[in-house]
Amino acid sequence: MGLPGGSPFVPMNILGIESSCDETAAAVVAGGERMLSNVVASQFDVHRRYGGVVPELASREHLRAIVPVVRQALEDAGIGYPDLAAVAVTCGPGLVGSLLVGMTYAKALSVSLGRPLIGVNHLEGHIHAVVLEERQKGNEIEFPALALVVSGGHTHLFYTRRSPPGQLDYKLLGRTRDDAAGEAFDKVAKLLGLGYPGGPVIDKLAPYGNPRAIRFTTAKMKGNTLDFSFSGIKTAVLRHVQAAGIEHQIERRRRLVESTPRPTVEQWRELTPQPTLDLLASFQYTVVRELVRHAVEAAEREDVRSLIISGGVACNTQLREAFGGGEVAWPVYFPHPRLATDNAAMIAAAAYPKLLAGRFAGLALAAEASLSL
Ligand code: KG4
Ligand code: ZN
Repeated sequence: MGLPGGSPFVPMNILGIESSCDETAAAVVAGGERMLSNVVASQFDVHRRYGGVVPELASREHLRAIVPVVRQALEDAGIGYPDLAAVAVTCGPGLVGSLLVGMTYAKALSVSLGRPLIGVNHLEGHIHAVVLEERQKGNEIEFPALALVVSGGHTHLFYTRRSPPGQLDYKLLGRTRDDAAGEAFDKVAKLLGLGYPGGPVIDKLAPYGNPRAIRFTTAKMKGNTLDFSFSGIKTAVLRHVQAAGIEHQIERRRRLVESTPRPTVEQWRELTPQPTLDLLASFQYTVVRELVRHAVEAAEREDVRSLIISGGVACNTQLREAFGGGEVAWPVYFPHPRLATDNAAMIAAAAYPKLLAGRFAGLALAAEASLSL
């Protein structure tokens, strides 16, 4: 399959499609650097009552949303299907049933348009979200870089460099051995009756608590590892909750979530006494400290020129402050929250170097739940 055009009037518009978890997303990015549209249909209202993503419901919702979301992405971009140079899609890691919806649609579109199909690793997408955003501002990130991808499904540290020119390659330096950081936020929030997803609520409530009220210890791992572990702190929070005998207080918050889809900070605070705010602040402080400690250590070991932080947890205010206060020696790049959480612009952006290099996927492209980068 050849590339269309070559004429300056045919920009390399890539349609990105993302459906690895609970957002159905489509976006058009021109020339790997100009985001023409970025549409995300959240399944928040479907999953929130279960306190987490229900895989079967997620696939069903992707099926419902995929056609209108792609149409909207083209409409917002002001282009038609013939203006696309390629179709890019997330092929893993993620929920297989969810991935398959986006992939099947992308394959069908690629065949019907006669345009190449490009498979993208979701984690590579998160890294490219930052590259894309900086390019839009006219900045080029300096490589090699240390990339921390921190979300509900992942807590990974990558050494990232340009190789060959125009492309990025990645070396995994460390990852979580159990829960992802975002998963720990979500589980702690669920335990305390704070709804789903937990990260944004804890982020808003933590400033009202004392982060040093409870000293959580984190797992000491043997050797010189950069791996993370967050399941211990989650269990420690559970023990605190059990010892505190605060079931009635938790139940009141659960009822608030049931009756109000998006409670305000004031509503949460009214139902959250000081010891629980202290617990949340101490939990968040510990997670952020671990993320920063490992990222800085990795950056020092590998002698990088910048830091890239991406994924849903990159929205966290305390994490941004911890890196942004001029205390680390490197420039640190965070994406706008819209590009930090799951989206398809990052998939289209990550596909651009592959388009230039002719690295296309065939129709046999498979969905891989644990695809590594
Ligand atoms: O990248 P993302 O949208 O999806 C995955 O690939 O997982 O990340 C979602 C995760 C959830 O665990 C959510 O609780 C967390 O990101 N998150 C946050 C914040 N906003 C979202 N965690 C901490 N602070 C936040 N402000
Ligand atoms: Zn993600």
